[in-house]
Amino acid sequence: MEDLAGKVAFVTGAASGIGRGICRAAVQAGMKVMLADIEAPVLETVEAELVAAGGDVGSVVCDVADSDSVMAAADAALTQFGKVHLLCNNAGVTTGGLVEECDAGDWDWTIGVNYLGVLHGCQAFVPHIKRQGEGGHIVNTSSMAGLLGGMAGWGPYNSTKFAVVGLTEVLRQEGRIGGFGASVLCPGGVATNIFDAPRNRPDRFGPQVSNVAYDNTGEGIEEALNPDVVGRLVLEAVRNNRLYIFTDPRFQKLMVKKHERMLDDLKWAAGSQALVEAGAPGAFEETA
Ligand SMILES: NC(=O)c1ccc[n+]([C@@H]2O[C@H](COP(=O)([O-])OP(=O)(O)OC[C@H]3O[C@@H](n4cnc5c(N)ncnc54)[C@H](O)[C@@H]3O)[C@@H](O)[C@H]2O)c1
Repeated sequence: MEDLAGKVAFVTGAASGIGRGICRAAVQAGMKVMLADIEAPVLETVEAELVAAGGDVGSVVCDVADSDSVMAAADAALTQFGKVHLLCNNAGVTTGGLVEECDAGDWDWTIGVNYLGVLHGCQAFVPHIKRQGEGGHIVNTSSMAGLLGGMAGWGPYNSTKFAVVGLTEVLRQEGRIGGFGASVLCPGGVATNIFDAPRNRPDRFGPQVSNVAYDNTGEGIEEALNPDVVGRLVLEAVRNNRLYIFTDPRFQKLMVKKHERMLDDLKWAAGSQALVEAGAPGAFEETA
């Protein structure tokens, strides 16, 4: 989708941080925008800000972990604007604690918002984008934690962010037939309110028992990237149909290291006693 002016965007997690940055960039690009978020008062403030900036915007209170709520939000967007071309499944939360420490509420909440929230958005809008026949693009927000992982104390967050990468890679292929693009946003540190995520934890998930895995004695998130820059980057990546949207190129070394380790283990498997004795395909073959 190269030409964004006049097109319609639907953004979840729009009231804060990266979502607000995407909405600001979309308004600047001449898009109409439906803002969706669970935090009603802040959502109203952001909507008023964008209206004051000349934006053609609307807002809807929505809990992305609840499929019916997302369907209702999609209806609200279509009622107001008639169409939706750009879907940003961006709402996300974080919790912390060792895998065995996080209780069912922690897991359900994080999976509900970070993974099912993305899935619900796709299920609500992809059929519409296909029917509309004007092209479209879906941006799902994951994280560098969805590619590198391996951070002790971040089980629910890392797992759901990996799932978002997996889902988006599938969507990217399905979009080739369906006539839409798909990207996965993998931010590094961005200066947002993410570490205050429990502010929006619905009662049905119970009280927060684990700690948010964030050490605020070290390098602070305040020193991280401005979310408005991420918003502009997202639109640039959509125009250029990039699959992975990275915000911090310094992660290159860790990415190389991770893939070298995978290749090394693949090579090890080729020479393993179990596969060699079984005469398994690929055993003893040079895999690197
Ligand atoms: N900030 C970072 O450093 C960073 C890094 C990697 C990935 N991310 C991801 O970026 C996305 C946006 O987070 P952010 O950093 O802007 O944080 P943020 O807390 O500033 O914004 C998140 C928004 O999501 C909303 N939200 C929470 N639960 C919701 C629900 N159930 N339904 C609808 N809206 C809900 C919040 O109200 C908030 O407005 C998240 O998916 C997060 O995991 C952030």
